[in-house]
Amino acid sequence: MADTDIKKGLAGVVADATAISKVNPDTNSLLYRGYPVQELAATQPFEAVAYLLWHGELPTADQLAQLRETERAHRALTDEVRRAIELSPLDAHPMDEIRTAVSAIGAADLAGIGTVMDAVGTPEENLQRSLRLFAAIPAIVAYGQRRRRGQDAVAPRDDLDYAANFLWMTFGEEADDVVVDAFNRSMILYAEHSFNASTFTARVIASTLSDLYSAVVGAIGALKGPLHGGANEAVLHIFDEIGEAGNVTAWLDEALAEKRKIMGFGHRVYKRGDSRVPTMKAALDSLVEHFQRPEVLALYTELENRFVERKGIYPNLDYPSGPAYNLIGFDTLTFTPLFVAARVTGWTAHIMEQQASNALIRPLSAYNGVDERHIEGYTADTAAVHVASRPEEAAG
Ligand code: COA
Repeated sequence: MADTDIKKGLAGVVADATAISKVNPDTNSLLYRGYPVQELAATQPFEAVAYLLWHGELPTADQLAQLRETERAHRALTDEVRRAIELSPLDAHPMDEIRTAVSAIGAADLAGIGTVMDAVGTPEENLQRSLRLFAAIPAIVAYGQRRRRGQDAVAPRDDLDYAANFLWMTFGEEADDVVVDAFNRSMILYAEHSFNASTFTARVIASTLSDLYSAVVGAIGALKGPLHGGANEAVLHIFDEIGEAGNVTAWLDEALAEKRKIMGFGHRVYKRGDSRVPTMKAALDSLVEHFQRPEVLALYTELENRFVERKGIYPNLDYPSGPAYNLIGFDTLTFTPLFVAARVTGWTAHIMEQQASNALIRPLSAYNGVDERHIEGYTADTAAVHVASRPEEAAG
């Protein structure tokens, strides 16, 4: 196969159709089930967007109330999830902790289910599993941050919606409306983005007819990488390194001379700006004002301007969300788990879509290793002798 036939990184490959979201880099737009994401972020609670991604339509008032009732019923940490979290060392990365906890939820839920074929589940069962994960992950993320700070878990509050309760469980106090609103918007913006690496990972796993929990665990592994979800965490490390706006030029000169990737900039699909950035930047502005932290905005703006000027590469969603999460009070290590809490809605919608119209995802590869060669002295007869004398190796 000629090199030109290889689509390295699957760049430009249309792997399947999806009705869940449409990314259009030419018009710089992102639609969830037809709705522009900025309209959803400005008007909807995250629970309604989760419903939209799963069902294809926004919920009626009754449907939203029903979803909220189920979500509230599954919010609390169960004993086995708490134990799974505590199995991870305190200095493990929280993405490893959340991956383990989600795996524990899957093992508990699928216990006694029988064969791997039975674990695939019906569409109705998978919807319930999706809701369960959506409801359970905030407590995992919140407790993770709290235990690293030496604090105990905070029980969920039934009188608070998803975003307000998430913040309550993390900080043990009620957040101001402006903070809840910014956080809710970030969850909606992170919820879905077509065939990104983690979603595609989830679809690959689902395509083998493995269960939904296994697909989500795999997706969490893909999201951990700094070229994907890990970038929001990396943005804050960069901000810490630079310190203040006045240091940007010198820092950037050195970083570019060292050919460093500047986290929070660039995108595989968007080449002229990420459609989600203006909405998240507006949320960041409201937080900067609320917490009276103009120096954060000064550094943000200076780095963006200088980097765009030098490289013509624009910020992606992680650029404004990193400092926004920092202002809200989340530890830098918690940022990527927040992405998990949001993106689990998109992952599970894609897993169900894949299952509804499945084809095993199994691409080809072009072999570029050494030419065929042979073991010295090998004949069909010597092979038979080896198999007989070394049965364990032959079996492996
Ligand atoms: N900082 C510095 N240079 C960057 C860059 C960044 N953030 N993003 C892209 N570039 C440069 C590349 O070095 C490359 O330069 P070259 O042609 O001189 O080698 C060119 O722009 C094309 O980049 P490439 O890596 O091929 O683009 P891609 O589509 O494969 O990569 C990303 C997309 C997201 C992986 C890449 O932009 C990146 O690593 N960004 C930082 C991580 C990040 O923020 N990830 C979150 C994505 S939502």
